[in-house]
Amino acid sequence: MRYLVTSALPYANGKLHVGHVAGAYLPADIFVRFLRLKGEDVIYICGTDEHGTPISISADNEGVSPAEVVKRYHDSILAAFTGIGIEFDNFSGTAREEHYTLSQRFFCDLNKNGYIQSKSTLQFYCDHDKRFLPDRYVEGICPKCGAGGARGDQCDKCGNIYDTTTLKEPKCKICGNTPIIRDTKHWFLHLNSFTERLKDWISSKTYWKENVRNFMLNFLEQGLIERSITRDLSWGVPVPLPEAEGKVLYVWFDAPIGYISSTVEWAKNLGQPERWKDYWLSPDTRLIHFIGKDNIIFHALIWPAVLMGQNIPYVLPYDIPANEFMNLEGEKISTSKNWAIWVDEFIQDFDGEYLRYYLAANAPEKQDADFGLKDFQQKVNGELNNVLGNLANRVFAFAGKHFEGVIEAVELDDMSREYWAEAKEIFGGVAAAYREYQVKRNTKSIMDIARLGNRYFDERKPWAAIKSEPQHVKETLWLCAKLLNLVAVALSPVLPKAMQRLRQMMGLPEITRWEDANLAEAVHLQNVSALFCKIEDVQIEKQLAKLHSAAAAAAPKEYEPVKDSITYEDFSKLDLRIARILEAAPVPKTDKLMHLKVDLGFETRELVAGIAESYKAEDLVGKVVTMLVNLQPRKIRGIVSNGMILAAHSEGKISLVQPEGGEPGSTIQ
Ligand code: MF3
Ligand code: ZN
Repeated sequence: MRYLVTSALPYANGKLHVGHVAGAYLPADIFVRFLRLKGEDVIYICGTDEHGTPISISADNEGVSPAEVVKRYHDSILAAFTGIGIEFDNFSGTAREEHYTLSQRFFCDLNKNGYIQSKSTLQFYCDHDKRFLPDRYVEGICPKCGAGGARGDQCDKCGNIYDTTTLKEPKCKICGNTPIIRDTKHWFLHLNSFTERLKDWISSKTYWKENVRNFMLNFLEQGLIERSITRDLSWGVPVPLPEAEGKVLYVWFDAPIGYISSTVEWAKNLGQPERWKDYWLSPDTRLIHFIGKDNIIFHALIWPAVLMGQNIPYVLPYDIPANEFMNLEGEKISTSKNWAIWVDEFIQDFDGEYLRYYLAANAPEKQDADFGLKDFQQKVNGELNNVLGNLANRVFAFAGKHFEGVIEAVELDDMSREYWAEAKEIFGGVAAAYREYQVKRNTKSIMDIARLGNRYFDERKPWAAIKSEPQHVKETLWLCAKLLNLVAVALSPVLPKAMQRLRQMMGLPEITRWEDANLAEAVHLQNVSALFCKIEDVQIEKQLAKLHSAAAAAAPKEYEPVKDSITYEDFSKLDLRIARILEAAPVPKTDKLMHLKVDLGFETRELVAGIAESYKAEDLVGKVVTMLVNLQPRKIRGIVSNGMILAAHSEGKISLVQPEGGEPGSTIQ
């Protein structure tokens, strides 16, 4: 059996925050460390996800190349991982040559096998910037829930996906103009061809986490639709077809292929270029993708279909342990609102292993979890320090004082043996739980072993027995040493550094195997010092203040001055006049539009105004309003609209701007 473990490739578009770590990286790192102790053949593969519109938008905004943005974040993300002891066998990136070739091969195989079709679609196009506007290049109002800031094809607020052309009030994110809709050609993955195979496959996955399996079954039930896998962008893997000039593969098509290209890179660096095949092409491999819940559909459905459509028999995912989200102080983590704890900054102030412990003890495995700074302090002080640190401290201090730091291996009495049996039973459950990714349960179980140690020490009262019953005391210390060692091994996947230190203080070699948990020889203490240290209130207050002030700095300002000011000459081009409404009728089959006839003094005019949701036709007749009269006529729903009346917009309500006096036709300046 071989294990190929991956974590979702983080976008090279931002720094790493605690939510990322809790969901997809720490659980995988712990799993891999555990498997290694068990002597399993395992590699842990990752890299940055370097394509997609957010990266090219960042680059545009900064006026640098996407490659530059990618490099910066790749380095920063990797440094943050290293800082908290997340160790990959290979950490690549999807903008590397090997990845381009492989992604194109994936596309070609699917295409040759008849799983890809091209089709004309409607897309936003910005006439000002002369380009198509995929995904996040356009923003508007969600047609499903009405929230602002909705993307071209998906709303982050309600999570709905919709047809691009239904987005309300679309705006180009580059220049702010209203885009037009144009025809463009795209390539679609015909997912439905895989329905039966996916159904068979998923039905064998009875051991999957419920959220992932149910999600899949639900999706298959609804019927699979084709998915566009190309985009009109210049940054990305070019679509390998002569007629696809200027198109690249959709980021979610090429990203998971990064798991393979990163493994290929690993094998090359190892000097054994064929070695990746042992993992990706062998039916003995267990491929396990650690992800956050927002990535389920891509990993459990589309990616397996893409693999099934290849000419090479790649392994399919064995398991996809998806985690829920980690919130922060009761609010959703948001990079745009700067509501996040950034790993690189946090580990300047606190030991990276404290963060690992907290994220493990509070892992969002079955439901969303919350990162609370006070809670973090409480877990570090109340568990690591007061339970485990305390046990080590009192045992080592006592042995130092009375036995010159030597704890002999002695025969245990009945009472001690009972304690040992209880601890071993918990320990047995720990191994099983690691295999099932139950990190949260394990941190609790392991702390229970340490608690048991403290209870035992209290009950044995070695300080009272030291004079009269030295043998009793030796037994006490020996069992305590065995318990501490048990904890050290059991907790080492979570806290590799601290547990290694604990072993060093006991004069024991590095932990390399799960069997190291059975201590059989005397302990010679050396360089004993505190295992952990407490977090002070002021440290937490400082963090909270920092968090809130960063969020306040990122909050949108009340008033955003318009970037480009205009001259008086520009303004004087607007011919604004007073008009009186003569007739009004709603435009059929629309909610918003009103067909108006107005008196301008010098002539009557017809126009269409988007005011029908706020005014009734009969109430409009006779109203005196302000109007821009030299606007180029435009055809709206078959009616030529010749001008525009002015209105104030606030919270969805429209109020006409009505002058206090003046005859129809009077100019407004
Ligand atoms: N970059 C994506 C995210 O952060 C995850 C990509 S996972 C992979 O949500 F499968 F595409 F690699
Ligand atoms: Zn534009």
